[in-house]
Amino acid sequence: MTNAYRWVQWNKHKRVYDAVLLAILLAYIAGFVGIGLTVTSVGDPISPPVLVMRALGTAAAILLHVILAIGPAARLFPELAPLLYNRRHLGVTCFVVAFLHAFIAIGFYGGFGVEDPIMAVLAGPGVRPPFEFYGFIALVILFVMAATSHDFWLANLGPGVWKTIHMLVYVAYGALVAHIAFGAIASEKHPVYIVLLAVGITGLVALHLVAGFRESRTDAAGENPGDWIDLGTCADIPEARARVVCVKGSERIAVYRDGDQLHAVSSVCAHQGGPLGEGKIVDGCVTCPWHGYQYDAKDGRSPPPYTEKIETYELRVEGGRVLLNPEPNAPGTSTDGASIKSVGAGDA
Ligand code: HEM
Ligand code: FES
Repeated sequence: MTNAYRWVQWNKHKRVYDAVLLAILLAYIAGFVGIGLTVTSVGDPISPPVLVMRALGTAAAILLHVILAIGPAARLFPELAPLLYNRRHLGVTCFVVAFLHAFIAIGFYGGFGVEDPIMAVLAGPGVRPPFEFYGFIALVILFVMAATSHDFWLANLGPGVWKTIHMLVYVAYGALVAHIAFGAIASEKHPVYIVLLAVGITGLVALHLVAGFRESRTDAAGENPGDWIDLGTCADIPEARARVVCVKGSERIAVYRDGDQLHAVSSVCAHQGGPLGEGKIVDGCVTCPWHGYQYDAKDGRSPPPYTEKIETYELRVEGGRVLLNPEPNAPGTSTDGASIKSVGAGDA
């Protein structure tokens, strides 16, 4: 949150996450090089630097697939949301791993000639598409994303520009596909890269389509704007959780239960648009499931010293039923909410 910037806001979960990520990465690289040395020890041996370079390249490619899959996967299976907490760490790791891959590639394939090593690799021999150039484009985009991933840049560039920069990840993915297709696949006789790449592309497209279809179906079945919406008795809202209300043509609304009180706030987090309605109340505050930004459910304001604000909505109780006004109050507006007691103990 934005009162002061720290390079990384460490906590126990982030340390565990990063330790697991590093362990998986090292195990992958060691396994890749070990198996590579064993398999190629007879016949046509591949030198260890090339194997390390390939291990790093494939690790970066796998990481990019995971980064692109997490968003839609967490929308389809909310229990995966914790994976989203540290997507920034995955992105920065992906860039560092890809950079090491490119560094070794340039040094190994371009370092022994008379030409400048970077130009020697990027220009290629001129008889095929310079697949390294596509890798270079992917690397530059990964760098820009990693460098601007901090909340400092989100606040200073503004959400629109920041989001646009980070949507470039799809361009980076396209460049990576070209890099692998024109490079490794063209020179590799074994179909393993083609099969893995096809599985990766198909899986990502399918995840995005299914998640997008599910979201648009939910929105289309939403409530009509304008009228107060009858939420019934709200008996199905568990303590400290929310019910998400979809209103046609508007943002989703999260109706939270905090003890005997109901409060309605926007379901869109002021940080990066995370699904607030899928969070829970922690220490008396609505807490975003993505990176833990918090808001007081009564007025939609982050507790001091933080300054974020989200819209609130009016609730009232009539004839034992909870009604919601889908017209948003200005962000940070205080509301009374509704008392579950006045709905009737048996109903709530
Ligand atoms: C300036 C940037 C880059 C350069 C110069 C470069 C160079 C290379 C070279 C020379 C190869 C062929 C290796 C071989 O056949 O021995 C290769 C393969 C590969 N690269 Fe890159 N690369 C760059 C960026 C990237 C990035 C950003 C990624 C991933 C996000 C990546 C992923 C891969 C993969 C998956 C392979 C196939 C691995 C293999 O050959 O076994 N590369 N790259
Ligand atoms: S989107 Fe980051 S905390 Fe909500």
